[in-house]
Amino acid sequence: MRVKIAGTGSCLPRLRVTNDDLGTIMDTSDAWIRSRTGIGARHIAVEETTTGMSVEAARQALEEAGMKPEELELIIAATLTPDHVLPPLSCEVQRELGAVHAAAYDLCAACSGFVFALNTAQAYIQSGMYRKILIIGAETLSKLMDWTDRSTCVLFGDGAGAAVITAGEEGIFAGTQGSDGAKGDVLSCGGRPLEHPFQRKEAEAVHPYVKMNGQEVYKFAVRTVPKCISQVLEQAQWQPQDISLFLLHQANQRIIEAVAKRIRQPMEKFPVCLEECGNISAASVPVLLDRVNKEGRLQRGDRIVLAGFGAGLTWGAAALTW
Ligand code: ACO
Repeated sequence: MRVKIAGTGSCLPRLRVTNDDLGTIMDTSDAWIRSRTGIGARHIAVEETTTGMSVEAARQALEEAGMKPEELELIIAATLTPDHVLPPLSCEVQRELGAVHAAAYDLCAACSGFVFALNTAQAYIQSGMYRKILIIGAETLSKLMDWTDRSTCVLFGDGAGAAVITAGEEGIFAGTQGSDGAKGDVLSCGGRPLEHPFQRKEAEAVHPYVKMNGQEVYKFAVRTVPKCISQVLEQAQWQPQDISLFLLHQANQRIIEAVAKRIRQPMEKFPVCLEECGNISAASVPVLLDRVNKEGRLQRGDRIVLAGFGAGLTWGAAALTW
């Protein structure tokens, strides 16, 4: 059994915040942000929600796939910023779409989330358990930012992307994923404070915003991403030159350039959307995928690679025939 990406979709919030806009509320500049990251703007959810953006992206993906929501058998939503702790984002999307026959659950693998969801969907299809799956990567990271910490808040944005995955007749799929929990401190965000009547000691202070050791993340990314790309290429028995596009998690232009250099492929094969979107964690790969799809840069039969990396630490890649 093969898998096929039958449709894609994406949604960004209406409010576009440029680097210059940020310069009016904190001590930063377009020159600093652009030269170190490649980011020029990000979209910030004001009226939009993680659910609303996911539903919009999902509707586009279903339309392209020519599929009704009732046909979906499974919805997997990758997110670290659902609107609510409960119910899961995937179930809220199911309700809004009317995908009444689908099972739905969330998956959290931070910026690798969409690639993990894709690998999971492929495994279900391969096993014969499901044939029609909606996967989503969606975030409202703006709510996890410490807006007084210029070293992190300038990097992230909000948005959602989705893809409909179906059983196909031909094509190749190779996937890999990994985690290193021992390095979790490199990129972290505290949860809710522990407050209940049975606690024995004073509750520990919780830092509820994203904290990052940027240089460690950089080193991890440029070491790990080329490795997992090589792994999926080897599994698929493809060479880097056989690949039309490498769609990488959009964290930083310099990381993408370093990966391109290490695998000796031209930057034209590495489309970017971080100039417009910033880093949208689990949403960055599907938003980019939808953009290149809508721009007509993908032809059936093309060989593409998707790769994600992020907090956990987590990483993953998939090589597939479009
Ligand atoms: N504007 C202006 N100055 C700033 C800003 C800002 N927004 N942020 C930090 N600075 C200052 C710092 O205060 C510091 O000043 P000092 O030298 O006077 O102390 C100086 O700039 C350098 O700070 P560094 O943190 O050392 O900056 P660095 O050159 O390492 O760049 C960056 C930071 C861009 C995050 C870099 O480490 C990087 O590329 N990391 C990769 C990780 C990444 O992209 N993470 C994204 C999220 S993680 C993920 O998606 C997996």
